[in-house]
Amino acid sequence: MFEHIEAFPGDPILSLNEDFQQDPRTNKVNLSIGIYFDDEGRLPVMKAVAEAEAALLSDMGPRPYLPMSGMAAYRQAVQALVFGEDCAARAEGRVATLQTLGGSGALRVGADFLKRYFPKAEMWISDPSWENHRVVFERAGFKVNTYPYYDPATGGLKFDAMLAAIEAIPQGDIVLLHACCHNPTGVDLNQDQWRQVIGVLKARKLLPFVDMAYQGFGSGLDDDAFAVRELARQNVPCLVANSFSKNFSLYGERCGGLSVVCQSADEASRVLGQLTGAVRANYSNPPTHGARVVARVLTTPALRANWEQELAAMCQRITRMRQAIHDHLREHVSGEKLSRYITQRGMFTYTGLSADQVDRLKNEHGVYVLRSGRMCVAGLNERNVGVVANAIGQVLKA
Ligand code: LMR
Repeated sequence: MFEHIEAFPGDPILSLNEDFQQDPRTNKVNLSIGIYFDDEGRLPVMKAVAEAEAALLSDMGPRPYLPMSGMAAYRQAVQALVFGEDCAARAEGRVATLQTLGGSGALRVGADFLKRYFPKAEMWISDPSWENHRVVFERAGFKVNTYPYYDPATGGLKFDAMLAAIEAIPQGDIVLLHACCHNPTGVDLNQDQWRQVIGVLKARKLLPFVDMAYQGFGSGLDDDAFAVRELARQNVPCLVANSFSKNFSLYGERCGGLSVVCQSADEASRVLGQLTGAVRANYSNPPTHGARVVARVLTTPALRANWEQELAAMCQRITRMRQAIHDHLREHVSGEKLSRYITQRGMFTYTGLSADQVDRLKNEHGVYVLRSGRMCVAGLNERNVGVVANAIGQVLKA
């Protein structure tokens, strides 16, 4: 029956992370997957999360199914964090928000919804983009195209080419944008560039789908949401996927949200209804635990303040590690190739290492980086940063 099933080629991120777990070398370093580790190399349990969980434990009670759209308190907390407290679209009930299985779940539910109601539209993603963007949208039946984004020569943005390409996208197509901390390059648009892109999206009647998986890891919770909030402020219909995997260090709880900004409350209620239908057809309803934790932290002022502080400290540690790898690499790398370790933002740096060099890093030094050259700088710490820089130096020399 299953003879014709071909082998799964693996996933460029998750399969490499699994290889890392199997690697018996004690000096191995995981800079592959987008996970924040602390300076001891451990996955942190945030104090605000632990406190919320302790409080919830004393109040566990029965666990019925959640509504298909998710927990109401969580959905409201998601909206406030993503769109801001003073968002008119929210106040007018024009934002439909669904609890999803992480950011990936939001992308997939959104993709299914879009394929059903915009069957002829094509998808446009940045070149490069998170590897799974293409997979999710192709599996949902979309043709996926790319627009220029990263400039390997400078380690920065090809903004003019990006804007020109978006101007040429056929009306009604869907444009995927990274709100902040672009994955995989760490290269973001500034606010002026966002305004220009939004102007083109509006003029061309394109549908933006914004992926915000790293809110809080760039320039703070509010600034990182600039693009999303500006789209809402300018009444541009759009979809927004957000995730609490990274900023709550709750990877395994699969906490995310999908929000759709609509033109009226009535439209938003119909959109939410159809998103809910897509959830029922896929997995019926989302799980309880992570959503309770996130909602409690976001809506309890003391926990919220602790969480924001801890998140800011995580970002500061990443900045220190960017500086540290930059300094250690000084003798091996020169010019712009070196400065991008500090100019790029968020968890990732696009190192410019070739797939061959990445393979050698892994095989000869136990240092895991994606074959695209993406390095998760949040996996660096005081003890491994010198070792990693040395390994890169040796690979570059060969
Ligand atoms: C990553 O890009 O490494 C993370 O978002 C994890 C994933 O699911 O790929």
